[in-house]
Amino acid sequence: MTALTLSTTAAPGLRADAIVVGVAKDSGSKSGDLVVAPGAESVDEAYDGKLADVLGTLGASGAEGEVTKLPAPSGFKAPLVLAVGLGPRPEKDAGYEAEALRRAAGAAARALAGTKTAGFALPVADAAGTAAVGEGALLGAYSFDVYKENGKDADSRDGKAPLGEAVLLGSNAGDEAHKAAVKRATALAEELNRARDLINTPPNDLNPAAFAAVAEGAAEEHGLKVQVLDEKALAKGGYGGILGVGSGSAAAPRLVKLSYTSPKAKKHLALVGKGITYDSGGISLKPAGHNETMKCDMSGAAAVFAAVVAAARLGLEVNVTGWLALAENMPSGSATRPGDVLRMFSGKTVEVLNTDAEGRLVLADALWAASQEKPDAIVDVATLTGAMVLALGSRTFGIMANDDAFRSAIHEAAEEVGEEAWPMPLPEHLLKGMDSPTADLANMGERMGGGLVAGLFLREFVGEGITWAHLDIAGPAFNESGPFGYTPKGGTGSAVRTLVRLAELAASGDLG
Ligand code: BES
Ligand code: MN
Ligand code: ZN
Repeated sequence: MTALTLSTTAAPGLRADAIVVGVAKDSGSKSGDLVVAPGAESVDEAYDGKLADVLGTLGASGAEGEVTKLPAPSGFKAPLVLAVGLGPRPEKDAGYEAEALRRAAGAAARALAGTKTAGFALPVADAAGTAAVGEGALLGAYSFDVYKENGKDADSRDGKAPLGEAVLLGSNAGDEAHKAAVKRATALAEELNRARDLINTPPNDLNPAAFAAVAEGAAEEHGLKVQVLDEKALAKGGYGGILGVGSGSAAAPRLVKLSYTSPKAKKHLALVGKGITYDSGGISLKPAGHNETMKCDMSGAAAVFAAVVAAARLGLEVNVTGWLALAENMPSGSATRPGDVLRMFSGKTVEVLNTDAEGRLVLADALWAASQEKPDAIVDVATLTGAMVLALGSRTFGIMANDDAFRSAIHEAAEEVGEEAWPMPLPEHLLKGMDSPTADLANMGERMGGGLVAGLFLREFVGEGITWAHLDIAGPAFNESGPFGYTPKGGTGSAVRTLVRLAELAASGDLG
């Protein structure tokens, strides 16, 4: 992966392939619409204070994500200056928002694919700014190229390798807080990028057993406890939901429990992830046009996995248990039929009316398993419903919860780390739609409000008195359009940063 370092070297003296500077739109200024952002003073001086004019001549506007390349001034060790748009200039003295820095750094890193080293001279006011630029650069530089000829992602980068090293420039590079910010950004981005790799790995290579093996490897590497229930153990334990979903596949299901414990922990956070390594819909088969990206249906499990490993790497003073509910949803002679009744791990029975509503079935068992340990809170993450994509679009995940304050805390945490999320209700009247004449409940209810119906179904499998939230990431988990900011095409790593932030808040006693 791309390396992240700090340097106090001034931009002109840095041996690099490019120097990145920020430009912003300033509609209030007399001199024009473009301003060079703080941090790039030495670069602007080398252009005789005319960098904004030069960029204006080249057509730059300062719009978010816009990239303009120009030859570096004479005397610079780097041959190229890359100006990246930050969007609107903040109010007079207010600093640039972390998310603006993250996105700009990401866009710049993407544009620098094929180069070895770039110096970032973006407007960083404090350690939080350093963290944002670092995260943005590492996340933006991501590429998934293992399946490409010569190991290069030929489509998205014209066959160029990702940026080799991002050097963050600034006078406070020696400062402990900035060093810590770089460490955190590196651990977080590496694990988030690993989640992206898992999501992007084709389903013929990442089945439940393969995913479980990856978790075992990470547990070994980071000193985590791991327990894998295979199909025999699941049958013995009575995990009817996970087994029912996995029964149609030649690749058997797994339930992985990954535990990070801190000797100083006062709180225990349980994270539960939907890990459908491929969702064909099962006997209620999805039509062509709806199944091509369904390798992404394990994005929740990937996010949980990444968050637990990141919590361990960061040494957070909290216990975090990750539950990965892994199964492949396939049609076959042994598959669950619409009309079948499953006896779930909790003891409740569920009539499966639609085998394509499989995520809630595997999550139900994992939520009940997580509940047995009586954690302080449970958060599940899932690409659960198309309805949530219709409601919130492709960049925002929905938050549902059995506790209003907890839902708000998660919304706030998401906002803090730069993830778009929105609170959604769990209207009680929708429960009735899941009544079944045969079983305790059905796995489908009213079509309208389908994302909320799914949330209500999950709530039935949360242990009494446990604070719980459900994140439906079906929209933002997989980016089917072009890359933007630090978000690549394909797996995005949605919810990872929010989950890590929640673990940090739990560690500091600030999460309820
Ligand atoms: N994995 C899908 C949801 C999904 C849709 C994820 C689009 C990502 C993008 C889920 O298993 C599913 O098929 N849900 C059904 C539920 C319905 C049958 C009640 C849906 O949303 O249509
Ligand atoms: Mn489905
Ligand atoms: Zn699914």
